[in-house]
Amino acid sequence: LPPETQQMYEAHDLLRKFYHHLLVNTKDGQHALEYLLDRGFTLESIAKFQIGYSLNSWDFVLKFLTKRKFPTEVIEKAGLIIKREKDGNYFDRFRDRIMFPIYDRNGQTIAFSGRSLGADEPKYLNSPETVIFNKSKILYNFHLARPQIKKQQQAILFEGFADVIAADRAGVENGIGTMGTSLTEDHVSALRRNVQSITICYDSDHAGIEAAYRAGNMLSEAGCQVRVALMPDGMDPDDYIKQVGEEPFRKEVIGASVTLMAFKLRYYRRGKRLHDEGDRLLYIEEVLAEISKLDNAVERDHYLRQIANEFSLSLEALKEQQKQIFFNQKRKD
Ligand code: UTP
Ligand code: MN
Ligand code: MN
Ligand code: MN
Ligand code: MN
Repeated sequence: LPPETQQMYEAHDLLRKFYHHLLVNTKDGQHALEYLLDRGFTLESIAKFQIGYSLNSWDFVLKFLTKRKFPTEVIEKAGLIIKREKDGNYFDRFRDRIMFPIYDRNGQTIAFSGRSLGADEPKYLNSPETVIFNKSKILYNFHLARPQIKKQQQAILFEGFADVIAADRAGVENGIGTMGTSLTEDHVSALRRNVQSITICYDSDHAGIEAAYRAGNMLSEAGCQVRVALMPDGMDPDDYIKQVGEEPFRKEVIGASVTLMAFKLRYYRRGKRLHDEGDRLLYIEEVLAEISKLDNAVERDHYLRQIANEFSLSLEALKEQQKQIFFNQKRKD
């Protein structure tokens, strides 16, 4: 490795340990620790995920790393300090935030995400892309979850840090996070190499539902068996575990996940009044288009019968219509 890259890893490793120390052992970190405990984080998961606290200081990191002989240039390239345009002075990127270390697949710390304690924007401040951190390739918690994913032949995909950590506390240790809602093709291939069966457990809000639809298609096109776990409107996994409980999360959320197609049936229903003829016909059209994309004839038949029953339509007519849609899709490809 080039010496600069080596130094970047070392700087992250030192800071991860120090941030964690500040959170759990010092008066400076006490309010941050109280915030986390209030939210339901346990000391055990704070240690396991090496959560930390960055001081409310403009130059703590600069001094801390300079004293340990790290060149300023390297600290800047690592994304830990920022150069101020007007006077060329440097200041710390992360100040007065809860620090979540981000690891690569080998368990090396390569970046941080810092959550504000109050209403400061952004809610989560992330390290920039660097030589060692490529956000579109990294899945949060992959290094810890991978053995569990292999063992259970199953991965659970979350949006957020708090969701992965709360799920782990609830005994769901095969969870990984996309750090936001956009799954990339690199994430998909990294996942597909390790596991076929994936359950998407994104937030049950508009952004999360749209993202689950998109991620579901990407994973399914890559050959994954996709299920979607749903929660009551507006909740995310971390909220659910805190408000409803760990066992209900395992049994009624993860354990009651539905197939991607069943999720899509609900997805197309949102905002429609199915007793209205126009909405109903649109719904049937959208659903038939999805059914046409299924490779499995038995599955197609299953969903066609379901729709036929639900809307008292003849199965023959639906099949006819579905074939029509299928050939139109083929023509477009
Ligand atoms: P959410 O907005 O759902 O946040 O974003 P959250 O995970 O529920 O956070 P809490 O519970 O309020 O602490 C989901 C994920 O998107 C990324 C983070 O990885 C976050 O966990 N995100 C969100 C950012 O990177 N920056 C932001 O400003 C917000
Ligand atoms: Mn969200
Ligand atoms: Mn929408
Ligand atoms: Mn959320
Ligand atoms: Mn949340």
